[in-house]
Formats: sequence, structure tokens, C-alpha cells
Amino acid sequence: MSEKISSLDLAAQLLKMGELVAIPTETVYGLAASIYNEAAIKRIFEFKQRPFFDPLIVHVASIEDLSDIVEEIPQVVNFLVRKFWPGPLTMILPKKKSVSDYITAGLDSVGVRNPAHPMTLELIKKVGTPLAAPSANMFQRASPTLAEHVLEEFKNTNLKVLDGGRCEVGVESTVLSCVENQEGINIEVYRPGGVTIEEITNALVTLNKPINIVKRQSKAAPGQLEHHYMPAIPVVVLNDLSQFENVKNHIHDKLKIDPNNFIDLKLNKDPRIAARELYSQLRECTGSGRSYIRVFAKEFPHDGMGDAVLNRLGRAASLNYVKF
Ligand code: TXA
Ligand code: MG
Repeated sequence: MSEKISSLDLAAQLLKMGELVAIPTETVYGLAASIYNEAAIKRIFEFKQRPFFDPLIVHVASIEDLSDIVEEIPQVVNFLVRKFWPGPLTMILPKKKSVSDYITAGLDSVGVRNPAHPMTLELIKKVGTPLAAPSANMFQRASPTLAEHVLEEFKNTNLKVLDGGRCEVGVESTVLSCVENQEGINIEVYRPGGVTIEEITNALVTLNKPINIVKRQSKAAPGQLEHHYMPAIPVVVLNDLSQFENVKNHIHDKLKIDPNNFIDLKLNKDPRIAARELYSQLRECTGSGRSYIRVFAKEFPHDGMGDAVLNRLGRAASLNYVKF
């Protein structure tokens, strides 16, 4: 049976022996292995039933450790990590040869972050190597924001879960690359998350250079979604009640369910609180016995942390009527 542990020494010992350990971070719980143990890295994919083409994020204990992972640290990247680390910002950078191709899914780049959770920072130091960790859930399931979520997710295994309490941020890190050339600073956002694009831009304007931001993730639109995970019951994201009345038949026809048998997931008006609660709420709603989860998003902020929340909802949705 999976079980919670609180000893950093035990967690470090297990990781050094090549075992997987679930670790707390400020965003979501991760399923960790030492980056230099390739067998353990491979086991992460098997354990989660995650396809090998989906790269893992490397977690370092400090900015200084970055030079073990990446070829070079451009000035602008150095500026960003000094501003936002430790924190929910993953930088995509050219990888060193020593970083396993299993971690990067064969890419020349690696995602690296310095998580803001004191237990995990201490753990990485004790292990003595950075830790690769995807979110500690089965592939295509909601990310865990409590140790109990991880226990439940992997209950029939002997996984040890280092209990670090509730994840403060609640959605995954922002993933981006940042390159500077003659034209200015070019940002590619692979995933909106715990550091908002507004925060990134506000930090970079102080450098007095043109900033160009490109969003890489697919836009949410009905039928065109890149599903990140699918809860066991459908999620329908709507603008408001009047739209619901108009699309009831569509919900019935598309999902083959009673459009009146829903449970409402209520987003907190404060997008930071909404982010913190999102994955727990999705888990609770999934267990409600209703046919589907209904979410109204019109009044919810679409910028700042709202962007990350709507991105996760959009990817979870079977039907999404909200444009953002
Ligand atoms: O907050 C987080 O980032 C959490 C905690 C545990 O740190 N981790 C997390 O990992 O969300 P995961 O595996 O669920 O998401 C990693 C994502 C990949 O799916 C991919 O989108 C992106 O990070 N990624 C990683 N390496 C990349 C690379 N070299 N190029 C582009 N995207 C990359
Ligand atoms: Mg994940």
C-alpha cells in the first residue's frame, strides 16, 4: 500500500537507492527520481503510464545547480530566474549531454525549475542530485495537490509520499523559453501556470527592450482541444446560465447524458484561490455521482492566474463554450 512519510532522510535514502518518491512542491505533488538514475527515470513513465514523448521537468535546489543541467545560461534567463526562483517557473533551455534523453523525450532542450517548497529543496540537497518529476498522477488524470490525492492515485503500490501539506499554488508551473536577439526578448509560453505572463512582462520591461510573447498552447474551442487529462465524468465549461439554456440539447446530443444531471464546480472569484482549489474540486465533483461537471466562467478573470485556471479547465473539458 502507498503510504505517507515525513522523514527527509528516509525519502533521500529511497531516492539514492533508485526508488521513486512522491514529493511536495508549491504547485502540485511530483513523482520524483534522481536525474542520474536512468532506470528510475524510465520507471516514472511506466508507473504513471505516461508516454515517453512527454518530457519531464528537472528540479534543482538552487540557481547554481542550473549549470549542471544546461549548456549555457543566457543573461535574460539569469535575470528571470533570479527574480522568480524558487517558484513556479520552468525554463526551457539547451540541455547538457549528461541529461538523459528519457527526461527530455529526445529533445535538445530541458525544462528546469527551482521549486518553492522547503522540504523538497532540503531533500534535493540531501540526495545530492537534481530530481526529475512529473505531476504525481496517472497519465491524463488530475494533478494532486494533497498527499492524500497521491495515496489515492497509487493506492495499490508501495509508493512513499513525502507529506508537505497542501500545495499553495495548486496549478502547475509556467513553462517558457526566453531568448534575446537583436530584435529584443522573445518569450514562448508552453504552459501558463503559477507565475503569470503579466508578472514576467513587468519584470522584463525594466530591461528596456522590445518584448515579444508567443503562446504555444492550443486555443480552447469546442472540438479542438488538446486534452491534457480527462476526468472520469465530462466537464462542460460555459459562459453563463443563458448559454446553458441554449446548449442543453447540444450537451445531450454530444455527451449522451441528461443535461440536468450536473454538479456545479464553483470557481472562487479570486483566481489565486481558484487555482489552489481547482484540482481538489475536480476530484470531489468527479466522485459526486452526477453525470457531468458544469462550470460557468464568464465572470471569472481570463488574465493573470485566471489564464492558468481556464487553461486547465479547457484541457479537462469535453465541451468548452468559453473563448479565452
Ligand atoms: O509545477 C510543475 O511543473 C509540476 C511540479 C511537480 O514541478 N510538474 C509538472 O510536470 O507539471 P508534468 O510532467 O506534469 O509537466 C511537464 C510539462 C510537459 O508535459 C511539457 O509540456 C513541458 O513540461 N516540458 C518539459 N520539458 C520540456 C521541453 N524540453 N520542451 C517543451 N516542453 C517541455
Ligand atoms: Mg502533469
